[in-house]
Amino acid sequence: MLERFGDYQLIHKIATGGMAEIFLAKHVHSPATSMPIAIKRILRNFSANQTFIKMFLAEARIICNIVHENIVRIYDFGKADESYYIAMEYVFGQNLGQLTNKYLQKGKILPVEVVVEIAVAVLGGLDFAHNTRDRNGNFLKVVHLDMNPNNILLSYDGKIKIVDFGIANAVYTKVLKNDLRTVQGTYGYLSPEQCQEKDLDRRSDLFSFGVILYELLSGKPLFKHLDSDAAILHAIVHNDVPPVHTVNPEVPRELGFILQKALQKTRERRYGSAAEMLDDIKRFQSMRELNPQVDTLPAILKREFAAHFIKMTKVLEKAQTAYLVDEIFKDIGEIEQIDLNEKIRIQQDDRSRRPAEPEEPEEDIKRGWKWPILISFGVLVLFFTGLGVYLFFPFKSETVTVFISSRPTEADIYLDGRESGSMTPAEMTLTKGRTYIFEFRKGDLVAELPFTPGDKPEDNKIFVELKGKQP
Ligand SMILES: Nc1ncnc2c1ncn2[C@@H]1O[C@H](COP(=O)(O)OP(=O)(O)OP(=O)(O)O)[C@@H](O)[C@H]1O
Ligand SMILES: [Mg+2]
Repeated sequence: MLERFGDYQLIHKIATGGMAEIFLAKHVHSPATSMPIAIKRILRNFSANQTFIKMFLAEARIICNIVHENIVRIYDFGKADESYYIAMEYVFGQNLGQLTNKYLQKGKILPVEVVVEIAVAVLGGLDFAHNTRDRNGNFLKVVHLDMNPNNILLSYDGKIKIVDFGIANAVYTKVLKNDLRTVQGTYGYLSPEQCQEKDLDRRSDLFSFGVILYELLSGKPLFKHLDSDAAILHAIVHNDVPPVHTVNPEVPRELGFILQKALQKTRERRYGSAAEMLDDIKRFQSMRELNPQVDTLPAILKREFAAHFIKMTKVLEKAQTAYLVDEIFKDIGEIEQIDLNEKIRIQQDDRSRRPAEPEEPEEDIKRGWKWPILISFGVLVLFFTGLGVYLFFPFKSETVTVFISSRPTEADIYLDGRESGSMTPAEMTLTKGRTYIFEFRKGDLVAELPFTPGDKPEDNKIFVELKGKQP
């Protein structure tokens, strides 16, 4: 098992990306009942960049309010042990890049049905996020900006979800570009306007997703295979893209035309929104005859990544069942009880696999009570031990009192985008080490700041000056 990180126990390292490490983790306060989650822990060199962190937190605050079945849900974000992080829904599966690499190695192409299913899900998620508004109804102009196959997650049970929404904003912003040279952008999926450093809108994501779909259907890279970053950027801006059905004649022409529109260099000639492109894809889907022979996405994933599926199923089972037991017994040292539990579980599994047994004779029925009594006893011991450890073991996160004042006073305080019900001046009890986003409002005056309560009482004071809203 890995280390503890803030309020989370890290269980398994999933990957290290360009700017972060991704872990499977569990919340330490309720490990037995909470679901495993994914923690994206920003690498130290990024955590040290104040401008990056400011944008990262501002973006995370917007994104955590986006709830859609095709977007990875964000549960929490902040700072722990000197590193910034996002806690999000864990998607048990693979990313689209991993799947296409597997297929490319074998010279295979995903079935059109599956590509269309991915297109419908992703465009649904994109459209939802692009239309995000704040609570006053203002359009927030959310754009993904890093639509590449690694940021589309596919679960072994067939869910399709976009991850890292808006976070790329902090990476691609002009202001930061010089500071963050280390970020090797996924240049092959940038839009022409991203390459030319123009202002960006939702149509940029449609181009990038067009490139992803083109590669899925043609079975070939469109831009990313070129020799240098400069050659890639040049090709994205200037090179004509042949219709995908001319590269792979198996691709239906209608689909080729949809991609041609998404891949227009001039954004005015593209689809105006993900919803418009989705309409065309759905029209194509409804006209196409269903092919019952085609593998489904879950079948493809489990077949191509069987070893990963089996290994991670075991890790997840341990995280969901034995994790609390492990932790408690590691502390009080009664290992035999875990063994007993293991035996009982295995015995029950065996039973379910065996054909139904004849009814037990009456004497055996009395013996049959032995196990339920033992199990109930075991459960009671576990419960009280757990309670004891929870109460006396210091893994509750510490809270501190923070004093908040403003000029002018009597400003409404919002915490992480939600109304707190308090007005300045106020005292609030907050978790030490967690980063909160404070917002203050009084009429037309506003102020906003991230704040992380610390150890020293003198640091746990906030004073802000409210200013008029920017036009
Ligand atoms: N919520 C999640 N659940 C499961 N796996 C995830 C989750 N988020 C990310 N991953 C996995 O971790 C990998 C690394 O993610 P990360 O975002 O750090 O890098 P990346 O996606 O390769 O690059 P980019 O910086 O363009 O996002 C992902 O590609 C994905 O396979
Ligand atoms: Mg990513």
